[in-house]
Amino acid sequence: MKWNNDRWWKSYKPGDKLKGGNAKQKLVSVVIPEEQGPSKLPSVAEILKLKGDVTRGKAVAGRCISCHVIGDLGLDVGPNLTGFGKRFPADVVARAIVEPSAEISLGFEGQHLRTHQDKLDIMGVVLADGDPVIIRSMGGITQSIPASDLKSRQPMKRSLMLSADQLGLTAQDVADVVEYLRSSEE
Ligand code: HEC
Repeated sequence: MKWNNDRWWKSYKPGDKLKGGNAKQKLVSVVIPEEQGPSKLPSVAEILKLKGDVTRGKAVAGRCISCHVIGDLGLDVGPNLTGFGKRFPADVVARAIVEPSAEISLGFEGQHLRTHQDKLDIMGVVLADGDPVIIRSMGGITQSIPASDLKSRQPMKRSLMLSADQLGLTAQDVADVVEYLRSSEE
């Protein structure tokens, strides 16, 4: 192959790849289900009376990395959590897990897009706001929606994060993952 021949480079279409796909990219729905009523877990104060375990907490964190970078692992849909637990008190960390919609981190507000063509619902963080609109959702799924296919777009009132209840966490799991995030092991 001749590396200095620009035909190879043109056929690769770097621009399309960088934008997250070409016009034929198949879009998919990504919906974050709404919470069913208030948290069934005990209060944050009660949860923090439990003794957290770093090793178990590390295993619980496996449920967070589809949306968060923690140390060397994970996808950046929500904020990077490396060192987060060392910068904030335990109750702030626990509340963010039990009631994610109570306070939404700046720059990570969710948007709900709807498309014309396939009538898809796509919830995520808007990374680029032009034509196309680029949105990243849970699992790191990043999609480009041409402005002509955008039917509606609304800011979400709730968090894109699944709550502790939705992730199936017990009070002990929450205490453990808080302990893990506050440790030096992540
Ligand atoms: C479905 C995606 C998703 C999952 C799964 C998820 N999070 Fe989140 N998380 C987010 C998003 C998006 C935000 C930012 C919006 C917000 O503050 O609610 C966030 C915010 C946070 C914050 C606040 C960060 C800040 O800078 O204020 C903490 C702490 C947190 N998550 C911890 C966790 C932990 C621990 C888990 C696993 C038990 C987890 N998250 C699972 C998406 C997720």
